[in-house]
Amino acid sequence: MMNSHAMPAAERKVRVDLGDRSYDILIGPGLIAAAGNEIAARLKGRKVAVITDENVGPRYLEPLMASLKQKEIEAVTLVLPAGEKTKSFEHLIPACEAILGARIERNDAVIALGGGVIGDLTGFAAGIVRRGSRFIQIPTSLLAQVDSSVGGKTGINSPHGKNLIGVFHQPDLVLADTDVLDTLSEREFRAGYAEVAKYGLIDKPDFFAWLEKNWQAVFSGGAARIEAIAVSCQAKADVVAADERENGRRALLNLGHTFGHALEAATQYDSARLVHGEGVSIGMVLAHQFSTRMNLASADDAVRVEAHLRAVGLPTRMGEIPGDLPPAEKLMDAIAQDKKVKGGKLTFILTRGIGQSFVADDVPASEVVNFLREKHPK
Ligand SMILES: NC(=O)c1ccc[n+]([C@@H]2O[C@H](COP(=O)([O-])OP(=O)(O)OC[C@H]3O[C@@H](n4cnc5c(N)ncnc54)[C@H](O)[C@@H]3O)[C@@H](O)[C@H]2O)c1
Ligand SMILES: [Zn+2]
Repeated sequence: MMNSHAMPAAERKVRVDLGDRSYDILIGPGLIAAAGNEIAARLKGRKVAVITDENVGPRYLEPLMASLKQKEIEAVTLVLPAGEKTKSFEHLIPACEAILGARIERNDAVIALGGGVIGDLTGFAAGIVRRGSRFIQIPTSLLAQVDSSVGGKTGINSPHGKNLIGVFHQPDLVLADTDVLDTLSEREFRAGYAEVAKYGLIDKPDFFAWLEKNWQAVFSGGAARIEAIAVSCQAKADVVAADERENGRRALLNLGHTFGHALEAATQYDSARLVHGEGVSIGMVLAHQFSTRMNLASADDAVRVEAHLRAVGLPTRMGEIPGDLPPAEKLMDAIAQDKKVKGGKLTFILTRGIGQSFVADDVPASEVVNFLREKHPK
């Protein structure tokens, strides 16, 4: 891991260990062109339904179809609008109907080709059609490659909140083609990078230090990018294997997310103002600063975290979000709605320093409001 220059840009494989539901994540260049081979090697059936969005479809549907055709895999496709609003009942219906219309049976599969939105919606559709169909993820955003395509959480949003309707449905295979990230916008790439840095901050201090040195190489592609994605997938795979349904350790993956989700809600999920990874970036800095304030961690670590996220171009302070934010008390309401308050105490992911995060379930809500008042840009 430590010297990216010495490594060829070779493919990597991460295994998610879940007994008879175990699966491979393949990470590397050219995997869309190789999809037919990889799928044919694992799938008995010869039919798939491919669901994608309007940004990804025009770029990558054709090479995927060509690759499937070489292995005589028949495919039906559905192209949905891009964006978070697609994670809704409105678009779940055509997704389910497309899968049924393609006559996908036990040994066939549903393929999600796109970012986390397409992955979550398609996975949900695959999870409920015929009480569960085989499912293949071809994640095309950095966030989807390092986070949403791994672990089996699927679903859609409700006016009551994000991701409130869904099922656990593990994929049978994940193909993360690292070349496709070249067409992702800088901003979306950076947002996904926040989740990469998160794995270092949770429990991999060496990985965080490696990122501090190598982040430019990760952004420009090649071996360092593959390495960063592979380490991230392995980190998520380990957590998921230990705690598939989030009864304990899986909660660590929410580092920075309690603050981040509150900021996303405060900006009405308006991606022009804030995208998820940006909220996570600010949230991770806040989580470290709050841990310092609670005398858990040294202030130097919070400074180091902020310096790195700032260096890659991510926002690190609430004041960087365009437009006005609601007052600290309102942000606190959003945090409380994240359903984790018991008797004035909150469950939070805090840290004893870089790579030493832990689940704290007795954080006084009053301390959090005071902290938010201090950090609020006004
Ligand atoms: N299931 C999980 O465990 C999990 C975890 C984290 C996030 N999520 C969900 O993931 C979603 C966010 O995912 P996202 O950030 O990938 O968003 P997204 O799917 O909206 O993709 C971001 C944008 O990039 C475009 N895009 C994707 N790949 C591209 C490519 N290769 N080239 C050009 N454009 C491309 C998309 O069309 C979209 O406009 C959220 O809904 C979030 O709730 C789920
Ligand atoms: Zn996240």
